[in-house]
Amino acid sequence: MKVLVTGGAGYIGSHAVRALLDAGHDVRVLDNLSTGHRVAVDPRAELVVADLRETDAVTEALFDRDAVLHFAARSLVAESCERPLLYWDNNVGGSVSLLTAMERAGVERILFSSTAATYGVPAVSPITEDTPQRPINPYGASKLAVEAALHDVSGSRPAFAFAILRYFNVAGCAWGLGEDHDPETHLVPIVLQCASGRRPRVAVFGTDYATPDGSCVRDYVHVRDLVDAHLVVLEALQPGDRRIYNIGSGRGWSVREVMAAAKTATGVDFEVVEGDRRPGDPASLVTDPSRIASELGWRTRHSDLGEILTSHWSWTLEHPTGWR
Ligand SMILES: NC(=O)c1ccc[n+]([C@@H]2O[C@H](COP(=O)([O-])OP(=O)(O)OC[C@H]3O[C@@H](n4cnc5c(N)ncnc54)[C@H](O)[C@@H]3O)[C@@H](O)[C@H]2O)c1
Repeated sequence: MKVLVTGGAGYIGSHAVRALLDAGHDVRVLDNLSTGHRVAVDPRAELVVADLRETDAVTEALFDRDAVLHFAARSLVAESCERPLLYWDNNVGGSVSLLTAMERAGVERILFSSTAATYGVPAVSPITEDTPQRPINPYGASKLAVEAALHDVSGSRPAFAFAILRYFNVAGCAWGLGEDHDPETHLVPIVLQCASGRRPRVAVFGTDYATPDGSCVRDYVHVRDLVDAHLVVLEALQPGDRRIYNIGSGRGWSVREVMAAAKTATGVDFEVVEGDRRPGDPASLVTDPSRIASELGWRTRHSDLGEILTSHWSWTLEHPTGWR
């Protein structure tokens, strides 16, 4: 298939590009390199450096494509609270521009990277796709708005097909690719940067949650499993489809458990301090991934916490300052 990957220079997008190419797909990447890295794009893929909001450039990049994998977004919760309009402009405006370009170019298939952040503080655990979505920050709200736009476009064009993949915490590295965000806000790279000496210490934000050890619980999925899910969904998508899947392992790990496992995986006893709760952090976010398992047979194969940490640790050691 001829695929356009938006955000293909980013952490998840670069892994997806690699997996798509290895599966025999023809890949063009569109990325403005705002948080991504040129060096992370597989040289077998064509790279178009452009912004999603440049509708003409996006239309041109789509002219011969069969489908879009749409990873490009800003995704820092704290930044979204400080600069909400940036998130509405980049994530919602960018996606509206992309959907406009798809209409112009006659491309009718899209996989969209959504997030557990659209559920806000969920009333139930584990979270299913039918759990009410009540985002509590502009990042989650921007992703939910794009979900609504996809439903509306689908209502107007019978051939249009979309899949919304709501990721839980993505971690791990593969194929010499890695994760390099500035600032880094994800727990796995942060603890590994402590182990490698790049950071002096790491904080547990909140120790009095109603969880077994008092720290927050999250569901981790290896980036390899996540990109596998995209390949499976891409193959399955038929005209008119409106598919929605939660992507996670279905198993929760507390912040303290991740830190302890990172010490075991690296052999480094880095410093951990206790901090206050951060506003808007739900106690527990764990998915029920059974819909994609039963409909498409997708299951995690690499999302054991030890494998996630070991793969991420190898990349951290090989790239002590990230891609820079
Ligand atoms: N990493 C996670 O744990 C996680 C969890 C849930 C959802 N997601 C979603 O997955 C997607 C990828 O996340 P990531 O961690 O790889 O992020 P990332 O920041 O590493 O990658 C995003 C990429 O999109 C590009 N980009 C951003 N805005 C753009 C624009 N307007 N035009 C063109 N390119 C643009 C960036 O340069 C970057 O290469 C995002 O949509 C994110 O919201 C990630």
